[in-house]
Amino acid sequence: MFVRRPGHGPPPCAGKGRSGVIVCHCNFITRADIEGAVRSILRDDPSARLEPQFVYAHLKKRGKCCGCFPQAERVVADLLAAAMKEVDVHAFDAVSGHCDLIPKEGS
Ligand code: FES
Repeated sequence: MFVRRPGHGPPPCAGKGRSGVIVCHCNFITRADIEGAVRSILRDDPSARLEPQFVYAHLKKRGKCCGCFPQAERVVADLLAAAMKEVDVHAFDAVSGHCDLIPKEGS
């Protein structure tokens, strides 16, 4: 039988109105929460640290068991990888060979 210990796990009402993959079960933090926090952090400071403890602090949470930290790191890494891919796609047009980041000769 599952017994919910006081202070562990999300409160019974924590999931109301929220959806997404839960990354942190102690704090009920979803993948979308982490992605949103990372975007917000980087908007304020593009050189900010993005380790889970800093992302969680931005969400006004703290790691409890910290078992989710590796998964949270992967979410951040996936988000950054997707952002880098998007930058590459926009900066370099593979069809025409035009790169927006390099000025054309004679211009
Ligand atoms: S699962 Fe995230 S702190 Fe425990």
